[in-house]
Amino acid sequence: MTDAIVEITRCEEFSAAHRLHDPRLSDEDNRRLYGPCNTDHGHNYILEVTVRGPVPASGMVMDLNVLMRILREKVLVEVDHKHMNRDVPFLQGVIPTAENVAVAFWKRIEPELRPYAGCSLRRVRIWESRGNYVEYYGERA
Ligand code: NI
Repeated sequence: MTDAIVEITRCEEFSAAHRLHDPRLSDEDNRRLYGPCNTDHGHNYILEVTVRGPVPASGMVMDLNVLMRILREKVLVEVDHKHMNRDVPFLQGVIPTAENVAVAFWKRIEPELRPYAGCSLRRVRIWESRGNYVEYYGERA
């Protein structure tokens, strides 16, 4: 038992299709705004979820297998090999940019951590490609 606060991270991969399209805009404006991302295409995403908390007598902030199970049951089974614009109930009405997907994943994951004393969701990071990732820390403007 220490008074240390430690962050632990679970990484998962999933593949999904999407299209960036704002139904409030014309087709022409959508093409101008989103370019090639306005058409259907897919990514091999990497999801990294970080949980922060004290290190109890067990030595584990949280069992990483439990975190893995939460990610698989609440997020991955819903999005893997799906089209995010039309196949994923919790993404309906959301333009599935990595930013918006990160926020939507946060909302799915965060309540699942409440039973684990002292643990809190710290960060959701989504790699959309080798060069691009987004991070959400639960903040609101
Ligand atoms: Ni894309």
